[in-house]
Amino acid sequence: MSDDAALEVARAKIEDYRNRIQSLDGNSRDLLFCEARNHNWWQDRDVSDDQLQEAFELARMGPTSANTQPMRITFVRTKEAKERLNTHVNGPNQNKTMLAPVTAIVAYDNTFFTDFSKFNPIRPEMADRFSGNAEMAESFSRIQAILQGGYFIMALRAVGLDVGAMGGFNNAGVDEEFFSGTAVKSIFLCNIGYGDVSGIKGPRLYRYGFEEVCEIV
Ligand SMILES: Cc1cc2nc3c(=O)[nH]c(=O)nc-3n(C[C@H](O)[C@H](O)[C@H](O)COP(=O)(O)O)c2cc1C
Repeated sequence: MSDDAALEVARAKIEDYRNRIQSLDGNSRDLLFCEARNHNWWQDRDVSDDQLQEAFELARMGPTSANTQPMRITFVRTKEAKERLNTHVNGPNQNKTMLAPVTAIVAYDNTFFTDFSKFNPIRPEMADRFSGNAEMAESFSRIQAILQGGYFIMALRAVGLDVGAMGGFNNAGVDEEFFSGTAVKSIFLCNIGYGDVSGIKGPRLYRYGFEEVCEIV
């Protein structure tokens, strides 16, 4: 297909889906945002690899700067791998991590730029901005991967799973345990399964109102 024809197809696809759907209905908004909670305890109900893949395939569609996609995910499922992970998890987070069917280590690769010709063949020279500047590569890839981590949480909810995100762990320990000898570094952990509401300890905490934290100038 010529470049012009491919562009026309891409534009037609956008018009098609925007004609099919204008916004999410109330149930979809509840599932993703309004009623969804961060979970601590888990039902004895498994999560398949296919479900994890389905969630990733949604999350990967979220935008990143220059389409760089530096997020990397390690899904920790086996008891042996969970135990390796748990030695680096803060005490209050240990039980729930062991009980969750799967725990994702959401991480970033600060050598992401070596793949520019794959993910952004229109501007492969952008890789040069990062290849000589480790500090810039690090901060850029971490920010972009955090964005992707947010998409990933919502994608898990979109496929019907529950999530328990956790920052309470020793990043350096997890990096040594799982990413030794690589340029990959952990950001946060994400327990995945079907939440057991007995682990919810109270009503939703305060969320800022629009007028408190937003301005229109
Ligand atoms: C990146 C991230 C890190 C978090 N770290 C922890 C944690 O270490 N331990 C914990 O119990 N909850 C943790 N949480 C859960 C938050 O405290 C929770 O999402 C927040 O209080 C809102 O809860 P709600 O979504 O159920 O209203 C984390 C959430 C996120 C997104």
